[in-house]
Amino acid sequence: MAKKGNIIVGQSGGPTAVINSSLAGVYRNAKERGFDKVYGMIHGIQGLLDEQYVDLSTQIHNELDIELLKRTPSAFLGSCRYKLPEIHEDHAIYEKIFEILKKLEIEVFIYIGGNDSMDTIKKLSDYGILYGHTQKFLGVPKTIDNDLALTDHTPGFGSAAKYIGVATKEVIRDTYGLAYKRKQITIMEIMGRNAGWLTGATALAKTEDCEGPDLIYLPEVPFDLDKFMEKINALLKKKDSIVVAVSEGIKLADGRYVCELGSDNGYVDVFGHKQMGGTASYLANLINAKTGTKTRAVELSTLQRSASHMASRVDIDEAFMVGGAAVKAADEGDTGKMVVIDRVSDDPYMAKTGIYDVHRIANEEKLVPRNWMNKEADYVTEEFVDYVQPLIQGDYQPMMVNGLPRHLVLDLDAASGKKSRKRK
Ligand code: F6P
Repeated sequence: MAKKGNIIVGQSGGPTAVINSSLAGVYRNAKERGFDKVYGMIHGIQGLLDEQYVDLSTQIHNELDIELLKRTPSAFLGSCRYKLPEIHEDHAIYEKIFEILKKLEIEVFIYIGGNDSMDTIKKLSDYGILYGHTQKFLGVPKTIDNDLALTDHTPGFGSAAKYIGVATKEVIRDTYGLAYKRKQITIMEIMGRNAGWLTGATALAKTEDCEGPDLIYLPEVPFDLDKFMEKINALLKKKDSIVVAVSEGIKLADGRYVCELGSDNGYVDVFGHKQMGGTASYLANLINAKTGTKTRAVELSTLQRSASHMASRVDIDEAFMVGGAAVKAADEGDTGKMVVIDRVSDDPYMAKTGIYDVHRIANEEKLVPRNWMNKEADYVTEEFVDYVQPLIQGDYQPMMVNGLPRHLVLDLDAASGKKSRKRK
């Protein structure tokens, strides 16, 4: 059998609770398939351009490290939000990347990321084909936003949805505790940018021991401030404790994000995405000003994508599976493709991996279909909940040390051949 070359893997975009499980899946499968070295890009393609990479065998020593990696949130290797220029715009940058790949004897380049990150795979594989390079380029899906096309769902979504379901239940319990002779309205703000998958997951809280949120607003449908206030006033007549879930990305009919109406910091990233946040506090202040009712804004923010203590077992296992599937696909000759998850059945839940041309996925956004929201677009349907439910099942117990979860952390001393400070 011909000797296999090396693999390089990078992590890109917003981190998740399970992105490192995909990294573990890549590493394990690459080793099992007899690839020689597995390199990790430090801070994705942006770090690679500065020749920042690490031989992963200096970081992962045994099965315990694999297990720790699967339970470690955020991006072990560091992530980036970096947009490569169009291939005709800057030849030099591509030449530099391919020079580095040649120097490291890379056969397979794997990028774990969302729709913006798949743009990197698309451009590198197009460039490679155009200029006769032989490396294979494969994408591994990742994003809490669940907005990648052609895959049933994305690794990272299930764990964030689970955390959001739990947090919503706990917030509702808290508000009920004080609901005696006083009213309180709590607005919960959930990430997801222009897709409402995560915000809809607050409906998971509706269980036999919990009413669930009173209203849920997704960004797919224009948000009407007057109608919203009418709903709030009607609820105030009926209840003392009201909990509303809003997506960070809800927009008015004129296209302005609600978060822009408050204290917008104006930040826009290289992909043209606005920094979101502040929707809940804007609405909470508005309600307070108009009704005098006590309000509270709860922004789950980074907690929802980093809560590995609440990660779903299904999600961790699938993240590992898609990492391994990318190595297998490359080993079998695929390039310019992204691994997807196909749902085989709901009950019992079963899924398998598939693979699609990355051109059909890069830069596309998969949104919640209108028929998975109610008529007024202020709640999600049972079908929506049935879709999410299997993805939040099970857990992996964190490895607790001194009352806190243990994580695997990049050891740059070991990477550079110096004596590790961590492993004495
Ligand atoms: O893309 C994932 C995501 O978590 C979005 O839901 C959110 O809008 C964005 O990242 C926030 O990114 P950052 O932490 O870079 O502001």
